[in-house]
Parts: sequence; C-alpha cells; structure tokens
Amino acid sequence: MSPTALDYLLWGALPYVVIAVLVGGTIWRYRYDRFGWTTRSSQLYESRLLRIASPVFHFGLLVVIIGHVVGLLIPEGWTDAVGITNDMYHVTALSLGAIAGVTTLGGITLLIWRRRTTGPVFSATTVNDKVMYAVLVAAILAGLATTLLSAVAGLTGGHEADYRETVSPWFRSVFVLQPDVAAMSAASGAFKLHTLVGLALFALFPFTRLVHAFSAPVWYLFRPYVVYRSRDREPTPVSRPIRRGWS
Ligand code: HEM
Repeated sequence: MSPTALDYLLWGALPYVVIAVLVGGTIWRYRYDRFGWTTRSSQLYESRLLRIASPVFHFGLLVVIIGHVVGLLIPEGWTDAVGITNDMYHVTALSLGAIAGVTTLGGITLLIWRRRTTGPVFSATTVNDKVMYAVLVAAILAGLATTLLSAVAGLTGGHEADYRETVSPWFRSVFVLQPDVAAMSAASGAFKLHTLVGLALFALFPFTRLVHAFSAPVWYLFRPYVVYRSRDREPTPVSRPIRRGWS
C-alpha cells in the first residue's frame, strides 16, 4: 500500500519538527535557564526508596537505550553477514528487551509511587513533572507492547512485526535527510504508536527535568587521576621544618 498524506506528515515532516524543537529547545534552555538545569532532586525529603528505585529505573533504561541503538542503527544485512540468523537476533533482542523494559517499568512505578505517597516530594511535583511522567510511562508501555506483539508474531510464525524491515530503515533514513516514509508506513500500528509517543517525549525533553541526562558527569570517566603522595616518601626539606598540612 502506498503512503498516504498523513504518512508523509507523520514520518516525513514530524521527525524534523521534533529534532528542531529538541536541539533549539535545549540551546534555549541552556542559555536562559542554566540555574534551572537540574533534576530538582528530592533525595533530601526521602532517600530510602529512592536509593533502590532510581538505580533500577536508570540501569533498566540504559539497557533499553543500548537495545534501541543496536536495533535501530545496525542494518539487518550486517548481522546476517556475521552469521547471526534472524531467529537468533530476535530471540536475544526480545528476551533482553523484555527484561530491560520490565525493569524500567518497575523502576518508574516505584519512583512515581514514592512521589505520590511522600508528602514533601508530592508537594514539590509540578504539572510539568506530571505531564513528563505520563508521556514517559506511555513510551515505556507502548514499547513493551511492541515487544510482546513481536514475541507473539515470532511464536505464531508471523513476519509483519519485524521492525528491522520497517521502523529501523525509516529511522536511519531520517538522519540522511531522505525519510523512507514507505518503510515506516508499512510498520504495524503498535510500532507507529510507540514511535509517536517516543517523538513526543523527545519534543518535551528540553522543557522538563529530563535535561539532567545531558549533563551526566561523563567527563568524570576521562578526567586525569588525582595523584596521592605519601608524606613519608617526600624528600624532607632541609631548610624548612615539616609542618602539618593545615598549618
Ligand atoms: C523515535 C523513537 C523510538 C523508536 C523508533 C523506538 C523503537 C522501538 C522498537 C522498534 C522497539 C522494539 C524492540 C524489540 O521488540 O526488540 C522498541 C521497544 C521499546 N522501547 Fe522504543 N523507540 C523509540 C523511543 C523510545 C523511548 C523514548 C522510550 C522510553 C524511554 C522507549 C522505550 C521502549 C521500551 C521500554 C521498549 C521495550 C523493551 C525493549 O525492547 O527495549 N522507546 N522501541
């Protein structure tokens, strides 16, 4: 079936509107709200549950992100070429994806439950936060629905849910400025819904607390070592008496 006008709008134009809002919005936020560029941490109000829920959510999400990079950016031909069969690929992707997705969902459920039931944390929750949580949870749920449908299609011998022939080529084509609208319009409804919710989240990103993801202290991994020296091994100055560090 050839793409409709709506397909051209959603898969040909919308991604570029979202990229413009994401990039432009992030630059705007950085220039005009640098002091508001924060997670607005609520750790001071409650830390017991946060200490469990936050890592569960973030580690789950990290695996989900790695899965998206592999699934969306690596063409099917490349995995075929190194001997990974389609079945091998999908069994691994679906099982790892399901574990990561459920972990992320468990983490965000705990985080939202904590936010709702801890008085001061709930008081510090804005309408902006609530909208962001709703879209984030919708993206995760819709993502898990695609995983579930792919698993069912795999078990019943169906092929129509293979996102590596529809969503992934479209996703890559957006970045070379030749959006493959026909590929995406052939995807199943669940993939389309999930992608639209994902795009909505990207458009909201710069205007929410999610901006903290752009300032994760990654530089910490590459900074030079702090050199510690034992005082004992330092050459003893001849002319100056040894003084305590703080004197
Ligand atoms: C344009 C953006 C996006 C596209 C094209 C996309 C595409 C996909 C595809 C093709 C799958 C199925 C993977 C499989 O079945 O093996 C999937 C699953 C999933 N997605 Fe997305 N996604 C996008 C954005 C997001 C966002 C923003 C989130 C949430 C933060 C998200 C969360 C999930 C989750 C939780 C799953 C299920 C677990 C998994 O397979 O990793 N996705 N997505």
